[in-house]
Amino acid sequence: MAARRPLIAGNWKMHGRRAETLALLAALKESLTVEHLHNREVVIAPPFTSLEIATQILAGSSLQLAAQDLHWEPSGAYTGEISAPMLKDLGCSYVLIGHSERRQYCGETDEHVARKVAAARKNGITPIICVGETLEEREKDATLEVIARQVRGALSGQDKTAIASLVVAYEPIWAIGTGRTATPAQAQEVHAAIRATLASLTNQPTAEAVRLLYGGSVKAENIDNLMAQADIDGALVGGASLQADAFARIARFQ
Ligand code: 13P
Repeated sequence: MAARRPLIAGNWKMHGRRAETLALLAALKESLTVEHLHNREVVIAPPFTSLEIATQILAGSSLQLAAQDLHWEPSGAYTGEISAPMLKDLGCSYVLIGHSERRQYCGETDEHVARKVAAARKNGITPIICVGETLEEREKDATLEVIARQVRGALSGQDKTAIASLVVAYEPIWAIGTGRTATPAQAQEVHAAIRATLASLTNQPTAEAVRLLYGGSVKAENIDNLMAQADIDGALVGGASLQADAFARIARFQ
């Protein structure tokens, strides 16, 4: 089986002006040393307005940067949008795509997600594709079907090589910001199903190479149990990523 390098990502959402970005990143740089990071990747996704200052403060550190979204066109008359070449220029190695908050509040569809995935790939930025079911869908026993549809939708048009290098984050919507984490067993069940969907789109070795993150009320207290699951390769952390101590502990999971 392919060894998958664990990845812990902090999604700051719409939090932090530049001064707060500087303070939080400075604290993280102190608590996450080269020794902590030698066998894992740690990625921070601040708001667009903090990316430039974040690049400056992270220069020479192993912490990497992600954007929280992008537009699929490289440039053009798209007022308010940010393109993949612009993110590349700012030093982003990753980009979150299809977060449930964007699907819910900005009308993002699987088709938009697929176009964004293609744009990121074309510009050498690794997509972190977010999928997740609502509480209603879970209660109707539709979780695996919803997730399979989102994964297939996001990857339409991508070949095996492209799929092997991207990241999928499973974030059950009922667990986001609610303090109610999926149990490790619930998360593992969906992660295994995502890997099976990836295998059906490509082949087993490709599916085994893809990193699958869990997101939804990840904290210092639950990270170790989540990471102990066979198909959980990392975490996408919201609220707890805004506290240096909590996020550093999550990144140093056992
Ligand atoms: P919380 O960790 O605050 O639940 O947020 C999860 C999330 O949406 C990360 O993208």
